[in-house]
Amino acid sequence: MNYRHAFHAGNFADLVKHAALLQWLTVLQTDAGPLRIIDTHAGSGLYDLRGPQAQRSGEAQAGVMRMMGASDLPLALDGLAQAVTAANDGSAEPWLYPGSPWLIARALRPGDTYVACEMQPQEHARLTEIVGDRPGVSTLCGDGFAQAATALRPKGRDLVLIDPPFEKADDYDRIAVLASEALAQAPQTRFLIWLPLKDLETFDAFLRDLEDACEPAPMLVVEARMRPLGDPMKMNGCALVLINAPGGLEPQLQAAADWVTAGEAGGQARVWSLG
Ligand SMILES: C[S@@+](CC[C@H](N)C(=O)[O-])C[C@H]1O[C@@H](n2cnc3c(N)ncnc32)[C@H](O)[C@@H]1O
Repeated sequence: MNYRHAFHAGNFADLVKHAALLQWLTVLQTDAGPLRIIDTHAGSGLYDLRGPQAQRSGEAQAGVMRMMGASDLPLALDGLAQAVTAANDGSAEPWLYPGSPWLIARALRPGDTYVACEMQPQEHARLTEIVGDRPGVSTLCGDGFAQAATALRPKGRDLVLIDPPFEKADDYDRIAVLASEALAQAPQTRFLIWLPLKDLETFDAFLRDLEDACEPAPMLVVEARMRPLGDPMKMNGCALVLINAPGGLEPQLQAAADWVTAGEAGGQARVWSLG
């Protein structure tokens, strides 16, 4: 397992994912009932943008650095920009980027809980340092797909974030299997799935499998294409699939993805319902 999110933290894809995560959490928290969030691939929680890995990739420049310097930021990215400012002790010139654990732990209300799974022991140790002592938070070192499968509850309000590195070919299949098993036991379970966009064939095949596995749950797809999907060896964009999302999120998701993709000539965003 070679993947380290520190190379990619705060890039365009993190903005799309984290804006959607915060938007959805806000909607879910308008209901007073306790919420549980399961993060199958949590990462370490907070990333040093001045560290060697971030500096080597430079990916944050077109992502969080562009966002924090923008004068035309849509409301849809405002929550994320505020969280980045808070992670940097109030400074709008960030040197830290908050990952999903930091963002989720900060958003929990009394009674809400968060289970963060991370397989890589060093990343897990750092994750525990960053969020482990926050109320309602537990961290687990191990395989997030397996941990989430054992945590399923027939009733209850669960949002499962699935954000694998896609280093292994079976990540796509494991997402579909987990979602299918979860929805069979607990049809109300919500999923936020992140995917790289490399080539259309892989993307289409995954969506078809997911649709078969999860029918009749409603699904929303967010596509953020930074360039045409010509070279399958490159990450040409990213996508999200939201399962069991409430109606009404689409305009905010579109606005966030529009702003992010406008950072590249030829970038394009689309939000559409699957099925
Ligand atoms: C894309 S990063 C997660 C980023 C994080 N969700 C965020 O938004 O800030 C993927 C993480 O999954 C971890 N990982 C890889 N395979 C895993 C598995 N089977 N179960 C749990 N974690 C895994 C990697 O070590 C890496 O830290």
